[in-house]
Amino acid sequence: MCGIVGYIGYREAYPIVLKGLKRLEYRGYDSAGVAIYDGKNIQLSKTKGKVVDLENKINQKQAPKGTLGIGHTRWATHGIPNDINSHPHYSNSGDLVIIHNGIIENYTSIKKELVKRGYVFHSDTDTEVLVNLIEDVIKNENVKLGKAVQIALNQVVGAYAIVVFDKKKPDEIVVAKLGSPLAIGIGEGEFFVASDASPFIEYTTNAIYLKDEEMAIIRRQKGVKVRKIKDDSIVVPYIQELKLNLEQIEKGGFDHFMLKEIYEQPNVIKDTYRGRLLANEGIIRLGGLEDYIQKFLNADRIIIVACGTSWHAGLVAEYIFEDLARIPVEVEYASEFRYRNPVITEKDVVLAISQSGETADTLAAIKLAKSKGAFVYGICNVVGSTISRETDSGTYTHAGPEIGVASTKAFTTQITVLTLIALKLANLKGTISSRDYMNYLRELEVIPQRIETALKANEHIKDVAKVFKNSKNFLYLGRGYNFPVALEGALKLKEISYIHAEGYPAAEMKHGPIALIDEQMPVVVIAVNSNHYDKVVSNIQEIKSRKGIIIAVVTQGDTTVKAMADYIIEVPYTSESLTPLVTTIPLQLLAYHIAVMLNRNVDQPRNLAKSVTVE
Ligand code: AGP
Repeated sequence: MCGIVGYIGYREAYPIVLKGLKRLEYRGYDSAGVAIYDGKNIQLSKTKGKVVDLENKINQKQAPKGTLGIGHTRWATHGIPNDINSHPHYSNSGDLVIIHNGIIENYTSIKKELVKRGYVFHSDTDTEVLVNLIEDVIKNENVKLGKAVQIALNQVVGAYAIVVFDKKKPDEIVVAKLGSPLAIGIGEGEFFVASDASPFIEYTTNAIYLKDEEMAIIRRQKGVKVRKIKDDSIVVPYIQELKLNLEQIEKGGFDHFMLKEIYEQPNVIKDTYRGRLLANEGIIRLGGLEDYIQKFLNADRIIIVACGTSWHAGLVAEYIFEDLARIPVEVEYASEFRYRNPVITEKDVVLAISQSGETADTLAAIKLAKSKGAFVYGICNVVGSTISRETDSGTYTHAGPEIGVASTKAFTTQITVLTLIALKLANLKGTISSRDYMNYLRELEVIPQRIETALKANEHIKDVAKVFKNSKNFLYLGRGYNFPVALEGALKLKEISYIHAEGYPAAEMKHGPIALIDEQMPVVVIAVNSNHYDKVVSNIQEIKSRKGIIIAVVTQGDTTVKAMADYIIEVPYTSESLTPLVTTIPLQLLAYHIAVMLNRNVDQPRNLAKSVTVE
C-alpha cells in the first residue's frame, strides 16, 4: 500500500506534492520521491527513508520549480527499500515518469520481452517495467500517452493506481486504477490526483473517485476525460463534494485505524495471495519458498517462533501443517525459546512470524536457530525489515502498514501465507488428495467474500458489546483450529479495553477454569462447524448449568447452539481448516466496540508499542 500524489495547474507543484506525501505517509513510509517538470526537464529526486528524508535531500539544493509534478511514498512489495527501487521511475528515454501503487503480477514476462527489445532496467520493481511498456507502445503504435497507457494496461495483470506524464506533453497527466484507490481533485484551473483526498482537501472538495478499470487524461485547459481501460469508451464521471475532514480521510472514513484495518482484511488477503494462488490451475507460487521446498519436505520438524498475535498465527499453523501436510510442528514463544537452550539441528526448519519484522525476542530466536545450523524462513509484513533480512528466505504478507497497535489484518494475512505454504507442501507430499487440494484452493480464493459477510454482523456485535462493556473478566473458548482464535480474541480484548480475558481450549474448563463461571462471567465460545462441534455443545451445556453467560460464534443457520446461547454471532460456513480466517473477525469487532464504549485509546492503547524492539 503506497501513497501517490500528482498536481497539474498554475501553482508550484513541489510544495503541494511534498505536503501531500506527508499526509499519505500512513500508507507507506520506507522510501519516497518526487518528479517535477521544470518547463524543460524532469527534476526527479528520491530516497530510501521517510518523506522528511526526501525533503532534506532536496533542500540541499534548489527546490524544483514547475507546475506539473508527481510524488510517491512507498510500502515495498517488489524490491527492497532503497534509492533505486523508490518511485518515481523513468522510462528508458527519460521522457516518461511514473508512480504506482499496487502489484503487477506478470511483470517478469513483460520485462523479459522488453529486455529482448533492448530496454534496460535499473531497479527490481514492477513499476519500472510498466513505464517502459507504455514507452514501447508509444514507439510501436505511434500513439499518444493516453492511448498508450490504455493499450499497455490491457497487457497487464495485477492491481494498480498509476500517475504518469510525458515531458514532451507537459499539459497533461494520465492516471489509471484497478484494485488500488485513486482520487482526482477538481480545482479552478488546477487538478490533483492522490490515493485519497487528504493531499488536496484544503484546495478543493470536488472529487472524482475512479472506479476499477477506469483511467483519466487530465489536461490543464481541457479538464478530466474518464475512459474505460478495456475499450477506451468514454465514462461520464460522478463529481462528488467531500464532507470528510483530514483526519477522517486518513482513516478512510472510519473512526480508528484499527476499524479501518479490520475492514481492509478482505482486500489485503486478496493482495497477499495475488499472483501466488492460481486456484483454477491448482498452483501455489511462493517466490521465497520455491528454492527451499526440499528443506521443508525433508525437515524433521518445523519450529515456529513468534510473539503475541503472531504467536497465535503460529498456533493456527501448527494445526494446519500437522493436519494437512503431516509435518511435526512446535510453536514457541520467541522470548522463551531464545533462553531455554533448545535442541535444534540442521534438520529443523525454523519459521519466524512477525508483522513488524523488528521484534527483539523473535530476532534473537532467529539468530540462535541460525547459530545452531537451522534453516530459518520468515513471514513478515515489512519489506526489508531486520527479521526479513536476517532469515534465509521468506514470504511477505501484503497487509500494508498496520497502524493500530492491536494486530488484526496482519494476523489474517499471516494465516493466509501459512495456509498457502501448508497446502503446497501437502500437495507435494500427497498427504491430501488432489480433489481436497483443489477444493481448498478454491475456498481460500473466496475467503475475502466470507469475511465481507462476517463483517456484516458489525452492528449486532456492537449491540452485544453494549451489554458486556462493563464486565470485569471474560473467558474465550475454542477447540481445534479455533483454540488459537480464542487466545487471539482474548488478547484483542485485553490490549485495547483493559478488561481481563483468558483464552482456553474449551475442554480445559473442567480442569479448573469452570470454577470461575457465574452470572458475571461472559464466556465467548467459538462453536462453528467442526469435528469437535458436539463436544463444544457439551462444554456450553456445562457452562449454562452453572449460570454462565454464553456469547457464541456459530455457523450461519446453526439452531442447536442458538437455542442455548445468550447471544450468537453468525459467520458463513467455512471448511474447518480455514475457519480461523473468518471466526477471528467477530472477536476483533467485539473487542473494538467494547474499547470504544469505554473511551479507550483504541489505536494506541496504554503501555503498548506497535513493535517491541526491546526485551
Ligand atoms: C498484537 O495485537 C500485539 N500488537 C502484539 O502482541 C504483537 O502481535 C507482538 O508484539 C508481535 O509483533 P510482531 O508481529 O511485529 O513481531
